[in-house]
Amino acid sequence: MPADDLDYGAAHEAEREVLSEIMGHAFATTPAGMVGWLERLGYDQLRVLRGPDGVRACLGLVPMGQIFGGRSLPIVGIVGVAVRSDWMRRGMATALMGRALHEIRAGGVAASSLYASTASLYRRVGYECAGSRHLAELLPLLAPSFREPTPPLRARQATPDDLPAVQALYRSVAGHHEGFLDRGPYVWARLCDERFGVRAHGLLFDDDDGLAGYLYYRKHPGADRHRVEVTDACARSPRAWRRIWIALGDLGTMVDCIELPTAPHDPLYLHHPDPRFAVRLQENWLMRVTDVVAMLEGRGYAPGVAGRVELRLEDPVLPEQAGAWQLEVEGGRGRLVRGGAGRLQLDARGLAAWCSGFVSPHALVQLGLGQGPPPVLELAGAIMAGPQPWMREMF
Ligand SMILES: CC(C)(COP(=O)(O)OP(=O)(O)OC[C@H]1O[C@@H](n2cnc3c(N)ncnc32)[C@H](O)[C@@H]1OP(=O)(O)O)[C@@H](O)C(=O)NCCC(=O)NCCS
Repeated sequence: MPADDLDYGAAHEAEREVLSEIMGHAFATTPAGMVGWLERLGYDQLRVLRGPDGVRACLGLVPMGQIFGGRSLPIVGIVGVAVRSDWMRRGMATALMGRALHEIRAGGVAASSLYASTASLYRRVGYECAGSRHLAELLPLLAPSFREPTPPLRARQATPDDLPAVQALYRSVAGHHEGFLDRGPYVWARLCDERFGVRAHGLLFDDDDGLAGYLYYRKHPGADRHRVEVTDACARSPRAWRRIWIALGDLGTMVDCIELPTAPHDPLYLHHPDPRFAVRLQENWLMRVTDVVAMLEGRGYAPGVAGRVELRLEDPVLPEQAGAWQLEVEGGRGRLVRGGAGRLQLDARGLAAWCSGFVSPHALVQLGLGQGPPPVLELAGAIMAGPQPWMREMF
């Protein structure tokens, strides 16, 4: 592990150039190419680890929310973790992540989520798989054409002025999907703005009550035909979900592949009349609980579930939250107080996998991330049970 003389903090203006170089190298982009991304992230969200020789490692913080138990919790996404090439494999990323977790906790934030290039790095500071992202690659011909009793909803092109209505529709739907992000500007820009030099195109579908659904995608040119990258799709009625499929099918004249982020239990996927086409797991995303009280009191629970779990948490990275806790769940809410016999033993990774609802306590025992007598494991499982967390986007 590195010496304690490392300095952690927000990036200084004078460090912007070196940061573009470190990140440009890490993510195979020119330093100039990194600038747009850094501006979108916001320079104030960059954190660096410095040694006497200057910046050795950096990352970006993305404050947003995430849905667990139907409630939005404050979380911080981690992006752009990069280590100067001559300092790799010397504990820099581990040290940087540890320091960032302390900062996130100090802000009263419940958890941190990320997509990992290197699971072992993040697992060693307490992140664990907490949900998944799936992708389907389909021929437009596979998009069904529905025989609608009424004409399909009319489409119109999205303009920047439509964004508030689009975001409001997403928010009204997101609360019903475990793991969905309560998105901030960084994520929205990735879905609805230009990326990879290609602008996102938005189609909106209105019914008598206003915006009922939308589809955003980018068309990536190929030699002959093109590839469509769907960035977002959302609807609030069966008719609007079907309309999204019709729009995807209509792209078929010049497109030979639609890349669709979905899930086996995505309403869009299940609207397909023959939902058997291949959906592959792209990857699981990881979560780390940074404030166990904010997490377990902030998330929602099924209103009919009640019980008490006596928890013992092992957490060398955030020792302030280690030790014995009692979780009392009733009426859809949880209350966490110190004390109890610690009958469910979890480490930080086990806690993340459990309280996201992604992994059952019995499975955590099999993973070596938790322990407890069978009745305690069963109650702990029932308390967190729900549809598997997922999300459509990467960040
Ligand atoms: C991934 C990266 C951030 C790791 O930084 P680092 O300072 O070398 O990481 P650490 O020394 O703290 O390593 C911690 C653990 O992560 C894992 N790890 C680190 N680099 C790895 C690599 N290149 N391949 C596989 N595992 C790796 C190992 O388990 C390592 O522990 P060990 O050295 O005891 O085996 C760095 O290699 C990098 O900048 N890569 C390019 C950009 C990138 O992939 N960023 C991550 C985006 S999520």
